[in-house]
Amino acid sequence: MGLDHKLFHGKTLAILSGGGDTPAINSSIECVRNRASMLGFKVYGILQGWKGLLGAGQVVDLTCQPYNGFYGGTALRSSRTNPFSSKPGEDRVGQILTNLKRYKIDVLVTIGGDDTNGAAKKLYEQEGIPVIGFPKTIDNDLRTRTMHHYEGKEIEAVICPGFPSAARTVARLTSMLRTTTDSHQRVMVMEVMGRDAGWLTATSVYGGADMVLVPECPMTAERKDFFFERVKEMFMRSKNRSLIVAVSEGIRWHDEKTGKLDVVHASAETDEYGHARFGGVSGVVASEISHRLGLDARAQISGYYARAGECREYDRRLTSTLADKVVDLLLRNAYGQMPVLNKVVRCDELEEFNTSSIDMGSIGNIPLPDAYYDKNVFGVTDAYRDFLSHVMEPIPELRFEGDFPVVVSE
Ligand code: F6P
Repeated sequence: MGLDHKLFHGKTLAILSGGGDTPAINSSIECVRNRASMLGFKVYGILQGWKGLLGAGQVVDLTCQPYNGFYGGTALRSSRTNPFSSKPGEDRVGQILTNLKRYKIDVLVTIGGDDTNGAAKKLYEQEGIPVIGFPKTIDNDLRTRTMHHYEGKEIEAVICPGFPSAARTVARLTSMLRTTTDSHQRVMVMEVMGRDAGWLTATSVYGGADMVLVPECPMTAERKDFFFERVKEMFMRSKNRSLIVAVSEGIRWHDEKTGKLDVVHASAETDEYGHARFGGVSGVVASEISHRLGLDARAQISGYYARAGECREYDRRLTSTLADKVVDLLLRNAYGQMPVLNKVVRCDELEEFNTSSIDMGSIGNIPLPDAYYDKNVFGVTDAYRDFLSHVMEPIPELRFEGDFPVVVSE
C-alpha cells in the first residue's frame, strides 16, 4: 500500500518530553513514532519539552530516522518549562499556538507526568489543541488506575513507564551497599528520589533494605522515638551488626531545634511548576542515629542513578503496549486522554487488551497505598512485594556471613 493511501497521510504528529527524565522515554518516543508512521503521519520531535514550542520553535524530523529506544533518558531533551507560567509581557500559549500552526502540527503527544500532561490537557480544553498524554515518572505516583489483585482484594496501584527500570537500579544499589555496610558494621541510610510518594524508595527492600521511610508517613517527634527504638533493636538483632535504612528524599522530618516538621531542601530554588528541590535528609537521619544511639551511621544519596541507565525489558514492553493504545486513541480522535494499564501483570502478559485510557485532567498524584506499607515496622507488606514481583526480577542478595570458628588462645 502506498504512503498516500494511509489513513493519516498528509498529517503531522509531534512528540515532546517534559519534566524529570526516566530510562523509558526514548523507548516511548520510538514506540509512538513507529506506530504513528505506520498510520501515515509525518512524525516530528519537539526539543526540550514545551520550551521547543516557544520563540522560533525547535523541531526535528523523526520520520524514518534511526532511533535507539533502549538508550535511557530522552534524545528530545527535557525541561520543566510551564506554558502557563509566562513572565510579564510574554504570551507562551500564543507562541505555542503560532508554532503549531507554523510547523503544521496536527496532533501533539506529550510524554510527561502530572505537570506536563496537566498543561497539555489545559491547552486541549482552552485552545482545542489535539493532545494525547503518555505517562512517565520514576516516582510512580501518577494515577494510572492500574488494579492489583492480591489475595481476593483489589488495590489501586500504579505502573508508570520509567518506574520498573528505576526500581531495578534502586534495588541493585541497595544490594551493593550491603558489602560496605557489613564491613564497617554500620547503619547505612540510603536516600532515594520520590518527592511526594514512597513507591520507588520501597523497591529497596528487593535489594535487602531492612527499614523504609516514606513521605506518606511523616516523622513526627513521637514517630522518631519509635523509629530510633526500632533501629537499635534491629541493629542488635542483625547477624552482621549492620542495617540499611532507605529514606525518600521527600520525607517530612521533625527538627528538634525548630520544633518543625519539614522536608530537607537541596536548594531554595523552585521550578516553573512551583516544586522545590529536595535532598540531604539521609545525612540528617544518619547523624541523629549516631547521636541518639551511639551507632556508626553514614548517608548515601542514590539521586540521579535511579533515573540513569538503559531501558529495561518491562519498560520496553510497557511503552510498546501503551503505544498500541495510542493508535486506538488516534483512530478514534480521542484527545485529552492518556493510555494506562488496567491490571498489574508480569512482563510477558503486557498486551494492548489490558489497556484503557484516562482523562488527562484527572491523573493527579497517588501515594503508596496503606495496603503496601506497614508503619509499625517501617517496612513493606507482602502485598507490595507481590506487586513488585510483577514488574521486576528479584536481585540476588549479596550476603557473606563470615561465620568463622573463633580461635581461643591457649
Ligand atoms: O521527576 C521526579 C523527580 O525524579 C523527583 O523524584 C525528584 O525530586 C526530581 O525529579 C528531581 O528533578 P531535577 O532533575 O529537577 O533535579
